[in-house]
Amino acid sequence: MKSNTTIALFILGIIHVSIIGCQSDLKMTPNEHNNAVETKLDSLLALMTLEEKVGQMNQYNGFWEVTGPAPKDGAAAKKYEHLRKGLVGSMLNVKGVKNVVEVQKIAVEETRLGIPLIIGFDVIHGYKTMSPIPLAESASWDLEAMKKSAAVAADEAAASGINWTFAPMVDISRDARWGRVMEGAGEDPFLGAKIAEARIRGFQGEDLSTNSTIAACAKHFAAYGFAQAGRDYNTVDIGTSTLFNQVFPPFKAASKAKVKTFMNAFNILNGIPATGNSFLQRDILKGEWGFEGFVISDWGSLKEMIPHGYAKDLTQVAEIAVNAGSDMDMESYAYVEELVKLVNDGVVKESLVDDAVKRILKVKFELGLFDDPYKYCSIEREKTIGRPELQEAVLDVAKKSIVLLKNENQLLPLKKNGLTIGLIGSLAGDKDSPLGSWRAAAESNSAVSVLEGLQKYSGNTIHYDKGVDVLTQNPGFLMEAEVSYDKSGFKSAIATAKKSDVVIMVLGEHGFQSGEGRSRTQIGLPGVQQELLEEIYKVNKNLILILNNGRPLAIPWAAENIPSIVEAWHLGTQSGNAIAEVLYGDYNPSGKLTMSFPRSVGQVPIMYNRYNTGRPINAEANVFWSHYSDELNEPLFPFGHGLSYSTFKYENLIVNSNSKNEITVSVDITNTSKIEGKEVVQVYIHDLVASVARPIKELKGFELIKLKAGETKTVSFVLSKEELGFYNNIGKWVVESGDFKIFVGGSSETRLETHFTYTN
Ligand code: NOJ
Repeated sequence: MKSNTTIALFILGIIHVSIIGCQSDLKMTPNEHNNAVETKLDSLLALMTLEEKVGQMNQYNGFWEVTGPAPKDGAAAKKYEHLRKGLVGSMLNVKGVKNVVEVQKIAVEETRLGIPLIIGFDVIHGYKTMSPIPLAESASWDLEAMKKSAAVAADEAAASGINWTFAPMVDISRDARWGRVMEGAGEDPFLGAKIAEARIRGFQGEDLSTNSTIAACAKHFAAYGFAQAGRDYNTVDIGTSTLFNQVFPPFKAASKAKVKTFMNAFNILNGIPATGNSFLQRDILKGEWGFEGFVISDWGSLKEMIPHGYAKDLTQVAEIAVNAGSDMDMESYAYVEELVKLVNDGVVKESLVDDAVKRILKVKFELGLFDDPYKYCSIEREKTIGRPELQEAVLDVAKKSIVLLKNENQLLPLKKNGLTIGLIGSLAGDKDSPLGSWRAAAESNSAVSVLEGLQKYSGNTIHYDKGVDVLTQNPGFLMEAEVSYDKSGFKSAIATAKKSDVVIMVLGEHGFQSGEGRSRTQIGLPGVQQELLEEIYKVNKNLILILNNGRPLAIPWAAENIPSIVEAWHLGTQSGNAIAEVLYGDYNPSGKLTMSFPRSVGQVPIMYNRYNTGRPINAEANVFWSHYSDELNEPLFPFGHGLSYSTFKYENLIVNSNSKNEITVSVDITNTSKIEGKEVVQVYIHDLVASVARPIKELKGFELIKLKAGETKTVSFVLSKEELGFYNNIGKWVVESGDFKIFVGGSSETRLETHFTYTN
């Protein structure tokens, strides 16, 4: 190490140790601790040149073959030069201990101050050992399982040198056409907020300075999920009520859970790009919510303000973004190229740069990178990636994510022996698709297929016949998927179905048909799968449909005709085992949908927490009410829906108010079946008359309970002002007296209801 290059490590490393020491010895209060950290960050900041400060605000993608020689010319050479001059604060998409050490060494040993890099990566639902896609996991409603799944992902990513994930995505998703619905927690802000918090706690743990926890990132701030017509990157134009009541809650919860970073978004929000939006980033996030971490832009989102028509050139881009509170620039080169001059010319205040840099340094400090920049870089530990106990954890969350949509005549669960099963659909044998499109470091074809799972868990005779391909080929992460229309496999699949006792068809979307840049206008079964399904049904009605998909699918024919439908998403590495456990009854399904499934794409966006309208019913028996001429208003499968092999009865719904003026709710739930099962008990309210019209139902509480056969449990909830209030049309929180309906049950369409009057 050069003697003049360890200044930052010295200042912050030693200080870190001394602060930790002080904390225990002298029992520093959190405030004193914070002040001590601030002072030290200020000392480092005082040593930095303006160029070095701006460098901290610059993030580059892995820009040369890290295992090869340094690049000699072109953009990569320039970035390399920047890295060596201390003009890079972070890199993304560098993974593996050897590679991370290589870049970190340059930052630490070759730059003047030796400030370590923070290394970011999209660890969305697992690193190498893959969990289900986030939408699937949200269907578990099991916050502990989701937290654990995030912790597994953090542990593996950390072992590979990564210390920051660009997750969780906490965007509310209401439009099944949008490809990224797979990456969120569905349509509900209350549930979304709880899941955001659980995932953040999973990634960041209790103590960020350990080497198995990493910084998380709540994204995409804000309203990216409201892209018009579900087309990715499209315009967002929404009102204050939607912004405050639907979009913000998971972000606010993330900030409260002390997520270390936020990512802003590609979209414009009511005409202002999120990246250049100081209302979002300064007034709300850093102002009202008191967020202390830093904001990273989305990839190139600074420079996209030019095509948005909001900035004329890169200079203006940098000025707008820094003023608006975007602290780090991912791959726009706007800060690194423009910001120093803007400050020197007096256009941008240096204090804004200082604030951004301090936020960034603070996260590096909290990660312990100043103590040891290589703390995530142990070759020995890297070998633990993919260890067997992690498989157990992802299997656990995978089976909890499965939703039993329909089960007529109790076709499921299946017997384990004596059956001849026809297993049809190429997805049944696919070991790659279940990994989804955000697969970090997962090896291709590393998932357990449905075929393998069924073979492992039973002695049945299984005839696998792919019948139909979903795609012509696996397109990979970057390219468009091409749907297959080849029907040459139909004949043999039909013959297989004829000779089977039971047919299991695995149909839906390939893992690369949802995710970023993967919006679709048709949300039925792609290609000729629907046709094959109908052909097979003609010859064998003992048909179980397993869906693989990253978004709600519109499958009205199947919902009407197929006796058993299992929603199995893209479940990650243990996919086939999880599905087999559910099909054979080793695991009694407990998942519930977190996005409404439409009957047709024409109903989209569709969500349970809609408004009543002035014409909700057909009172006059004419056409002038809020409806479609050719479709029902109701979804195919509603939010909160999911069956079990057990059956549950809800009764004795009692509502009272307590001495703290809170509403107490209790209900008895009985398992009326002969097997133990789990149920997600859900509480919804409807504020009947308010100064701003309220949705017809809003989730305000839930509990996942386990009931033995015949057992009854009383479940109670307390609704306080926090659940009963709302943001009005100027973004002000209000709690109003008045009448409410309250509904409790196992789905958003529960019919068990009563009412109460709330008085402020
Ligand atoms: C663009 C995506 O929108 C964002 O979510 C992701 O983290 C970045 N690319 C980095 O890969």
